[in-house]
This record gives sequence, C-alpha cells and structure tokens, in this order.
Amino acid sequence: MRGHDEADLRSRVARLSAEQKVRLLTGADFWALYPEPDVGLRRVVTSDGPAGVRGETWDERDTSANVPSPTALAATWDCDRVAAIGRLLAAEARRKGVDVLLAPTVNLHRTPYGGRHFECFSEDPLLTARIGVAYVRGLQSQGVGATVKHFVCNDSETERMSVDVRIDERTLRELYLAPFEAIVREAGAWAVMASYNGVNGSTMTESPLLRSILHDEWGYDGLVMSDWTATRATEAAARAALDLAMPGPAERFGPWGDALLAAVRAGQVDEALLDDKVLRILRLAARVGGLDGAVPVTPAPVDIPRELRAVAAASFVLARNERSLLPLDRAGRDGSGLGRVALIGPNAEIARTLGGGSATVYPPYTVSPLDGLRAAGLDVAFAPGTLGHLRTAPARAPWLLRPDSPDLPGGARGGRPPRSQQGPGADVRFFSPSGEVVGSEQRDGAVFRWMNGFAAIGAPEQIDRLEVSCLIRATEPGTYQLGVTGIGRFRLLADEAVVFDETLTVREGADVGETLMAPPVRLAPLDLAAGQSVTVRLEHDVHTSPMAGFGTFFQLLLEAPHGTDDEEIEAAVALAARSDVAVVVVGTTAEVESEGFDRASLALPGRQDELVRKVAAANPRTVVVVNSGAPVLLPWADEVAAVLLTWFGGQEFGNALADVLLGEAEPGGRLPTTWPASEDGLPSAEPDHGALSYAERLFIGYRAFDRDGREPLFPFGHGSGYTTWSYESITVDCDEANPAGALLAQGGTTPAGVAVCVEVRNTGSRPGREIVQVYASRPDSAVERPARWLAGFAAVDADPGETVNVGILLPERVFQHWADGGWTLEAGAFAFEAGSSSASLPLTGSVTLK
Ligand code: BGC
Repeated sequence: MRGHDEADLRSRVARLSAEQKVRLLTGADFWALYPEPDVGLRRVVTSDGPAGVRGETWDERDTSANVPSPTALAATWDCDRVAAIGRLLAAEARRKGVDVLLAPTVNLHRTPYGGRHFECFSEDPLLTARIGVAYVRGLQSQGVGATVKHFVCNDSETERMSVDVRIDERTLRELYLAPFEAIVREAGAWAVMASYNGVNGSTMTESPLLRSILHDEWGYDGLVMSDWTATRATEAAARAALDLAMPGPAERFGPWGDALLAAVRAGQVDEALLDDKVLRILRLAARVGGLDGAVPVTPAPVDIPRELRAVAAASFVLARNERSLLPLDRAGRDGSGLGRVALIGPNAEIARTLGGGSATVYPPYTVSPLDGLRAAGLDVAFAPGTLGHLRTAPARAPWLLRPDSPDLPGGARGGRPPRSQQGPGADVRFFSPSGEVVGSEQRDGAVFRWMNGFAAIGAPEQIDRLEVSCLIRATEPGTYQLGVTGIGRFRLLADEAVVFDETLTVREGADVGETLMAPPVRLAPLDLAAGQSVTVRLEHDVHTSPMAGFGTFFQLLLEAPHGTDDEEIEAAVALAARSDVAVVVVGTTAEVESEGFDRASLALPGRQDELVRKVAAANPRTVVVVNSGAPVLLPWADEVAAVLLTWFGGQEFGNALADVLLGEAEPGGRLPTTWPASEDGLPSAEPDHGALSYAERLFIGYRAFDRDGREPLFPFGHGSGYTTWSYESITVDCDEANPAGALLAQGGTTPAGVAVCVEVRNTGSRPGREIVQVYASRPDSAVERPARWLAGFAAVDADPGETVNVGILLPERVFQHWADGGWTLEAGAFAFEAGSSSASLPLTGSVTLK
C-alpha cells in the first residue's frame, strides 16, 4: 500500500468520532465518498463503468473512451489484451478525476435474455474469472480501484431490486461465486459491489455471505459498497459486512446516517463494526492515492484509438465463412479491384457501440461501419434496408443546428455574430421559479442528462424550468418526425407555434434502468421543403422529472423522411444485386439490450431477418455483420456466405470492421457464450412470486446443450481466423513448455494443477492466432457433472507451416467440486479434450488424480 501501513490506517480510524465515522459510511453525493480532513482523506470519486469511464458528468461535454462491450473483451480470450484495456481505463479514470471504477461486471450469462448480458463476460466461470483477473490487474496496476460487481447472482434484470434467487450451494460456488473468488484472491480487488437482489432469502446488502465468504473464507481486505440505493436496513446492513451505502447523502437516500448513529449509541450496532468499515474505506483511499502521504500512480500514456481498434478486431468472431468469401481482396476477383460494396442495414450508418444503462458513456466520436468502410477507401453505396423497429434517434447533423448557426443560408440569423463554436447543437437556458434566466449551456448535441445537479448553475432547486433552442434544417423535402423522449412536462414549439404540450409518464412498475434507458417517446410530424429551416424550442418543467432535486434527462428526437420498410428493403436488394459484394449490418441497440429490463425475445428486431434473406438471395457474396452485445437468433445463418459477430464494438467499431473485412486484421474472437439456434430450453429470467429459481443448477450454456444433446447455432468457443489449424498432439503432465509460466501469462498464480501441452500447426497460408481450448470431463463419476467443462486455454501465434507446442496449466480447482461445505476431489481418472471449440475437440488425454 502506497505509504500507509495498517498501523497508520488504524491510528487514523481511532482519531475519528462516532459521528465522523458514520458520515463516511454513506456517499457524499451520487458518485463520491465524503472527505475527512481530520484524517487526511480527500474526496474519493467512483464512476461507471465496464466499457469506459464516465466521470461525474454524463454528456457530450466530457467525453470518454468507449471500449467494446465486455462480451467483446471476453471474446478475445486474450488476458494480455484485456489487461491493456484495464490500463487504458485507468488512464481514462485519472484524466477524469476518478479513483474507483464501478467495473468489471462478472455476473454470468445464465440466460441470453439477461438485459445486461452485453456487460458481463461469459457463460463460463473460468473464462469470466481469467478475463476478470486480467481486467482488474491492468486497472489496479495503475492505481485505480476496481469494483467487482454485482455480488452475487444478479444475472438478469427482471424485478432486480427485489428478486430472491434460489440456488443450491454447489451451483453458487462452482458457477456464480467462482469469478469473484478468483478476482479477490488472485487480483486482490479493492472493492466489491453488493447487488440489489437477494440470495436464498437475504437481500445482498444484508447477506451473511458478505462476511462468511468474502471476509472469512477469502480473506478479503477491500471495501464492500452497495449497488445504488440497494441498502435497505439500518442495523442488518451494518451488521453484515457492507461498508459503504451508495449513493449519498444519507439524508436523501438513507438508511444509515443519523439512524446508524442512533443504533450505535443505543448499543444495537457495535462501534467496532464501524471501525472495520472505516478502516476499509481508508485502505481503499490509500490504495488510490486519496489519503495524504499517499503517492498516486501516474498511469502510463495509451494510444487510445489504436488500442481500441485492435481490441475490437480481436473480439470479432468469424462464425461462418463459406468459400472463403472473407477476407475481401482489394485486388478484386479478377485483379481489377474490388467493385462496389453495398453496405446495408439499420446498424450500418449509426454506430451502435454500446449497450444501455449505467455502462453508457459519451465517446468523443464513433466510427460507424459506413465511416469505416469509406475511410478504408472502398467504393461504398449505402441503403438502410429497414428502420421501422428503431427508436427514433436524437436530432443530429446535418439537420440539427444551433439557433444562430452561421451554417445557415444567409449567415447568422438576426444579425448576431457567428459563434466561435459552430456545427450542430443547441442552446439551453435555465429559469428560476420567478422566471429569471439563471444560467445557460451551449451544447453540441440533443441528448441532455444532468444527474448530479446543474453543476455550472447552482443548486437544482433554483431551477424550475429549462428551454432548449435550436434549428432544424431539412436536407430533403418530406415529413420529418420531431419530438422528445423523457419523463415530465414538455412543450415543443416550432416557429413559435405549439406542436405539443404534454406530461410524459413512465410505465407503472418500471425499474430505474428502464426509466433512464427507454422513457416514453412523443413525436409529431413536420412537413418541410428542401433547405427549409424551422426554429425549435423545447420547454421542460424540471420539477416534473423523476430526477427532480438532482437534475433531469431527455432527448430531442428527429427522424428524417424515409420510405416504408417495403420500399427500403426493395431498394437495398436492388443495390445488393448490382454490387460486387453485400455487407449487411444487422443488430440491436442500447434500447434493446440494457440494464433495467431483460429481453423478451432473442429475435433481431423488426424485419431484419427478411432483409438478410432477400439480400443474400440477390447476391451470393453476402457478409452479415451482427452488431449486438449478446446472442440473437440468426435463422438465415446457413443461407449467407459469411457471418461476422462484432458485439458492441466501441468507438473504433467501423475502422476495426474495415480492417477485418479486408484481412488487414484477423477476426480474433471466439464465442464466450453459446449462440442458440432457437429459444427452446433456455433458462428463464422471469421470477415466480418474487423468487427466481436457478433450477437448471450447473447446466447453463454449453453445459446444458451438451447434456441434452441439443445443437446450438454456434457453440461455445467457436470462431475462426483467416488461416487453418491442425491439432497434432496432447501431452498430459508435460513440463517442457513451462506450463506454470503459461498459467501466469493467463493471469493465474496457483502453480498447483495439471500441466497439459497441446501441439498445433498452422496449415494455412497466412500467419494467425488460435485459441487452444482444453476441456475436462469425468467419465463414470459418482457425482452429477457436466459432460465437459472448460479447464484452460491459451492463445497461440504461428506462421504458415509453423508448429507450436503450448503449455496450459489446469488449476487444481478445475478438478474439484463443492460437496458437504467444502471443495472435494473425486479421486480417479479425469479425461481431457483439446480443440478449437466446445464442439470441436479432436485431441484426448487423461490423468489420474488422488
Ligand atoms: C447499477 C450499477 C452501477 C450503479 C451506478 C446501478 O443501477 O446496477 O452497476 O454501477 O447503478 O451507476
């Protein structure tokens, strides 16, 4: 610990009064902890999250590097690369004044319906653990704290605030706790977040598991913070090993503050418990450089665009590539150059780089597939194909202009001088209850979210109303849809005429995540001639927002004229038919995959399936790019030449896509989760009378498909690069390849286990990277087990013709199961299979363990 030993921390705790201690145990505001000058503690700032560091504000004025979705990071199966992303996030955190990141999310992909599936790594506990350890090590090596979340069994969103997960001890240990255990033990995570849900009858902020497992079994010395507003009881939460109730202040959110102080004074809560909690807060502060005398680490500089472009490409899973359609050859089929590329699909023009909820950030820019393919110098023609299912996007360039934009024909309006900052945007003015203007903001977009007060203006209660002003200029004639998404009263005026004046309300029972991510929409048609501009004013009564007292949030929406889905599909098919190759980008959006709710269907929204089928029928050289954070159904998969799964690819998505389509980068990803062929037989996320039974026990993902003999669409671990491999041999108990060193490279530290060496040969004509996967199984077990489970993996780079012998250490935990309150080894023969996915395992071996 930088400059602070335990005795020093304890002496600081001893200097504090009970009031001071209690004050530290609830956040000071939405994101920060209280400072305490008496013990040299400065304000320590937390921030979401897994795919970028948001910082204390949440809009386009304070942008954040947008990393690919955690599913993408796990799809790399590359711990070094993920550790580098951890370091990148640390650099971002420091740049934005953040000490503790609210990430990684290591809940499991129990079911693909889970709304935050994109935000978690994998369905497999070992892969999740290895990727999570690497992420936390990378982050914390640069002096920024990780918060491993959400402890535990927060694997879906329906009724997430109250649901009680019913789970047996063995499943809890072997699946859902396993990533937390590895990260706490191996990476020494500095913070853990207790989830909203309950497990077996105790809500997690009061759960006995916090103390019995985290403290007593795992020897965890870090901090446990609650998920936001998850602390429900004063005494029970204080007695449990919860250290910090977030957010604050306690007067607004409770339930500690004065109530806890009273409980201590009444002898209902032992003050020694407070001491331990405060000690953990000071320890965290010391680690992140928040205690006087601590030397903060200065993170190493990172080339962010380069890193994000490379990691995105390394995460793309080439799931199908018939007749080696990919990579596309710039020289073309006859050497005269690649002809026209028809780029089609709703996700091709607007970059969908993020899932929804607290993990969203505002990137400085995004590269859409259209931007990326054009920047790569290809001859690209674009057709959206189908739009009907999309939520209307926020107003943006080229239609959105500042109210006095010099871009307008005729120059600045009203004779006012042009602003120094030109381009798309809007002005916001804030009004006091007496109608005076108390502040203003000049904004670059039409997404508005004030979460922690209106910092520049003063106390939120000073603001009664706000007004957004901008111009909307038509590029083509037709009917534009103009409107708002938000909650509360909105009055929209176009050229001073009232378009609507309405109070938008949220669906009863909606979760806060749904409220924030998918609030109601109100649109109105506006007929405009080409080049015509209209002055738009959107007035909003701030006190009618559910965020009143803190801020508010809403978006000004605009949809440009477009054809019906039938017309758009027809145009896209005609374009595909006259192009050399068709690239169809289908997918979901942050409103489909989000925190706060689960998906009701795994189908691609709208008529995207029909679009793909029709395009593929018109052009046999069709590549489908699937831009989603989680599995979707692809019923046409065997009707198209190539399928590339790209996740939510982060801000460099389009550039990485061009790199992979053109073979300038390998599609490095392998599936971290099974992609099902249908919705049959998947675990449900629907609680029954408040309880969600994990009745499938150990059998999630590939474990369930293997047991039932069902074929998924694409199996766990599946994916290929642009070369081919042959699996030559497996040696068990080998030592020549230094497998312990190999395990260290994968992020492990326990040298105990079984060493396996796998020899693979690059049989293709390009250099490539293979993820060698080893699965264990236990024939004739006396215990119920999956048919096979992932035991270890390693990335191998090889040139054409080259053979590599890679050592993989399979940790001893891989062979143990949980029985009668402890880890047990069933003595006897364990079998191994090695190969390129859970369904392609040509090599076998075995080991007998005592
Ligand atoms: C989410 C957490 C997040 C927190 C703060 C909660 O609703 O579940 O993952 O860190 O909000 O934004």
